[in-house]
Amino acid sequence: MLENRHILLIVSGGIAAVKVPDLIRRLRERGAMVRCILTKAGEQFVTPMSLAALSGEKVFQDLFSLTDENDMGHINLSREADIILVAPATANIMAKMAYGIADDLATTALLAADKTVMIAPSMNVMMWNHAATQSNLKTLQDRGIEVVGPGAGDLACGEIGDGRMAEVAGLVSALSTFFQTRKESGPLSGCSALVTSGPTHEPIDPVRYIANRSSGKQGHAIAAALARLGAKVTLVTGPTQEPNPSGVTVVAVETAQQMLGACIATKQTDVAVCAAAVSDWRVAQASDAKLKKVSGDPPPALRLKENPDILATLSQAKTNRPRLVVGFAAETENVIKNGTAKRAKKGCDWIVANDVSAGFGADTNTVHVITGQGSDSWPTLSKKAVAELLALQIARHIKQTL
Ligand code: PMT
Repeated sequence: MLENRHILLIVSGGIAAVKVPDLIRRLRERGAMVRCILTKAGEQFVTPMSLAALSGEKVFQDLFSLTDENDMGHINLSREADIILVAPATANIMAKMAYGIADDLATTALLAADKTVMIAPSMNVMMWNHAATQSNLKTLQDRGIEVVGPGAGDLACGEIGDGRMAEVAGLVSALSTFFQTRKESGPLSGCSALVTSGPTHEPIDPVRYIANRSSGKQGHAIAAALARLGAKVTLVTGPTQEPNPSGVTVVAVETAQQMLGACIATKQTDVAVCAAAVSDWRVAQASDAKLKKVSGDPPPALRLKENPDILATLSQAKTNRPRLVVGFAAETENVIKNGTAKRAKKGCDWIVANDVSAGFGADTNTVHVITGQGSDSWPTLSKKAVAELLALQIARHIKQTL
């Protein structure tokens, strides 16, 4: 399972870092390629020289090293990995991850990560049980970060309890299981998917834009759910505050035209899910300079122009049409009727009609999945649950139509 897998191993500063050389040995014996980032505190427990000798790779330490940034910047370190393992994960690095602090190479690479992140916590029992650590742990787990251990027993500090980093064999087995279950055995393994999410921003001038209240929660959750089922997912997203889902390639755009360009640039996919709230119009001639308010003058009139319809473009493509195109319909009345009409108009296979009268951005959604066979109304669910169920329905459909 580990043959030819690229593992980015982040070593933070805990006594369990002394187990890392053995971990690298065991991973390499199984054919994995290991590249290490060593934090300043980690260097107190294990030397860069030993990690480099065992991994056969340069060890990365400095966020501001010009040569490293040229060779292999903090972005590329995660892009070139299949998974990121933080071992040991101290209370400190877990807190930084939970809050998105990026003050060294390790935490910056973690914030820029587009891959699954696995952590192996290691610390004193009181630190582990502290409400702050437990709350950070929950935040990380909610974001889909995998947690291995810790185990209980004698701790290096002399106390007894939870906080021992998982044993090397346990970490090797967790990584093997990850590759076995997530990538190769998921019902969507071998499939690719394109998901759009979030709002678009259509410029009026350099400082103003037309937008909507989409948070990206629904689209991002769908991208994450499809990836969890093994699909290779590209998420094209407008500006949102949502974290990048792990294991997903994210393309950030601002306008509808850029979103269409990014969707077309994505190689043909098996599935497309358009959950973005794309602005129907843009300002026909956005100003290059900030529009000035001149007292006494009437406010400027904005002439709008229709934006391209991404869902219709993908649905009606003569070549390379995805096998399954799923659109969303944001409605405030006659939800099923309007959703059904939208499905026909756009030419997509399914439409997920949702009542948005309560506003975008909520954590829950009430949807009706409209297919060629009719409509299926789901109860109000969290957006994550809607995403999981939709991904499973997509997986079933793809399997049936193979
Ligand atoms: O982001 P959240 O806060 O979690 O909210 C989720 C959501 C309400 C935005 C989402 O569930 C949703 O309904 N997305 C579609 C919003 C929308 O633009 O609906 P629409 O009925 O206007 O468009 C119908 C479909 O055409 C959608 O799939 C949309 O992505 C697509 N479209 C619309 C216009 C356009 N120019 N290009 C498009 O592709």
